[in-house]
Amino acid sequence: MCGIIGVTGRASAVDDILSGLRRLEYRGYDSSGVVAVTSDRLGVVKRSGKLDRLSEALGTDVLTGSTGIGHTRWATHGAPTDDNAHPHLDPTGRVAVVHNGIIENYRLLRAELDGAAFASETDTEVVAHLVARELDAVDGPDLLEAVRRVLGRLEGAYALCVLSADEPDTIVVARQQAPLIVAAIDGVGLCASDVAALIEYTDTCAALLDGQIARVRPGSYEVFDRNGDPAQAEEFTVDWDLSAAEKQGYEHFMLKEIHEQPIAVAETLLGRDDGAGRIVLDELRIDPAELARIDKVFILAAGTSLHAGMAGKIAIEHWAGIPVEVEVASEFRYRDPIVTDRTLVIAISQSGETIDTIAAADHARAQGAPVVAISNVVGSTLTRSADAVLYTRAGPEIAVASTKAFTTQIVACLVLALYLAQRKDRAFASEVSDVLARLDELPGLIRRVVEDDTAIRAAAERFKDVGYTMFIGRHAGLPIAYEGALKLKEVSYLHAEAFPAGEMKHGPIALIEPGSLVVAVAHDGHVFSKMVSNIQEVRARGASVLAIGTESSRAALEAHADVVITVPDAPHELATPVLTVLPLQLYAYYVAVLRGADVDQPRNLAKTVTVE
Ligand code: F6R
Repeated sequence: MCGIIGVTGRASAVDDILSGLRRLEYRGYDSSGVVAVTSDRLGVVKRSGKLDRLSEALGTDVLTGSTGIGHTRWATHGAPTDDNAHPHLDPTGRVAVVHNGIIENYRLLRAELDGAAFASETDTEVVAHLVARELDAVDGPDLLEAVRRVLGRLEGAYALCVLSADEPDTIVVARQQAPLIVAAIDGVGLCASDVAALIEYTDTCAALLDGQIARVRPGSYEVFDRNGDPAQAEEFTVDWDLSAAEKQGYEHFMLKEIHEQPIAVAETLLGRDDGAGRIVLDELRIDPAELARIDKVFILAAGTSLHAGMAGKIAIEHWAGIPVEVEVASEFRYRDPIVTDRTLVIAISQSGETIDTIAAADHARAQGAPVVAISNVVGSTLTRSADAVLYTRAGPEIAVASTKAFTTQIVACLVLALYLAQRKDRAFASEVSDVLARLDELPGLIRRVVEDDTAIRAAAERFKDVGYTMFIGRHAGLPIAYEGALKLKEVSYLHAEAFPAGEMKHGPIALIEPGSLVVAVAHDGHVFSKMVSNIQEVRARGASVLAIGTESSRAALEAHADVVITVPDAPHELATPVLTVLPLQLYAYYVAVLRGADVDQPRNLAKTVTVE
């Protein structure tokens, strides 16, 4: 969750850290802080609240130095106060630490530091104490060795950056189940949670692997394993530039990212057909013959990615004829799922760093299942451990509420479904080429929806104060009902829930009363008439209905719903969710703006969930 960055070898290190933190703020934003080496001592400034408070404090509380580390926090241990904000120092103020993750045995470690005074309630502070004690020992080791010794005592997940006043141009970093990258450019050493923070300086980075530790100095970094032997981190190049991580005139990242969907979907589809009707995956470290034997698929994901997986299930079962279970990643490894070497796991994660999804995929792999990752971040933890990768080439997604990642994930699922159909000999090359060619119409259709949002704004204006909204859908409309409800609740804080429309009569319809709002996702297709019946049932009980449909279903919907918003007919029914979700993304956005909510950084959330 939290974002961390370190810079050494630049006179403007503190400014650089602040601007890096701005790009990392989506990882957590309840407090932030920076520490720099100033004349052989550590100077710290930290504040609870948004980064602007830190920025203001740095304006008055001037901090300079060419080496420093910074942090933006999503609180786990201890409330979001100034004291609990990172960096944390040892009692003498010579060692500073920033941390993303959870040190699970911190209470035990604190107890062992008998009598030591702690300035915060965090799990992190104990690390600074322990490193300082190692350094203070007679013949104490250097910072790298001191940190390495301390790591041997830590249990849990961490990306750590450690600074010592005694080695003023060195930052020591370590990784265990939380992302951490390092980079070196002319005379400058850098480290951060992810590339968004470093993109201003370089497009070439190296991702540390679990158990690795690195010493970052001006212009260089050295990587070691947990025994202190030299090791190799994984180098990778980022294919997006700084402008992709900026708002470019949009009021919010969320709106910008909604509007980027035509290009994001086009990029995700690009080059998938090798010209002979065979699908191309980005990385394939798995024998295609192995995939032909697959008799069961698990799709594992969280949140919005889970909803994309629900749309993926329908496509895989339809085209490839393989039974698919979609499962919340955080539940998967705590039961006894039946997994064999003929089970394929598809792990979907925008960030590729969601701990639950990574752990669930690892759990399945340990039982022999191959894993295909669908992810948006090259070099992320999930993509490195997976046996095959299909990238959603959506570019950086900064808004906490996921939009362009979702539509590209569905497109990736469609591509993967066709790939599996081929492996199973259930689709001819000509059929695959034909479907892919039809999917190429999607970007143009998406553009038509997002560029004319007048009706959606009007609906947001009309319903913005409705306290509870029920979303219903069937078949390919059901994942969109779930996603529409999630978008609305996370950005506007209004209560919203989704149900399969056919389940209404089994309980949820009891919630409907005059004044209720039901959003019905009812695209044209084989379940359309059943959706119309469900709409009539809720209207008969006094609910207002906002129907999301396709152009060919407009007339039929207008006879039954209070407000009808339609999208163009999709080039294939299974691609309909890519279009029907768009009005609901925009609806959630406008309701949130009208209610004055913090659209890009909703309360209590963080973009990348690296703790369980
Ligand atoms: C909602 C949202 C989250 C993420 C979820 C998984 O708008 O963004 O629900 O979808 O935290 O994140 P990834 O896809 O990075 O694994």
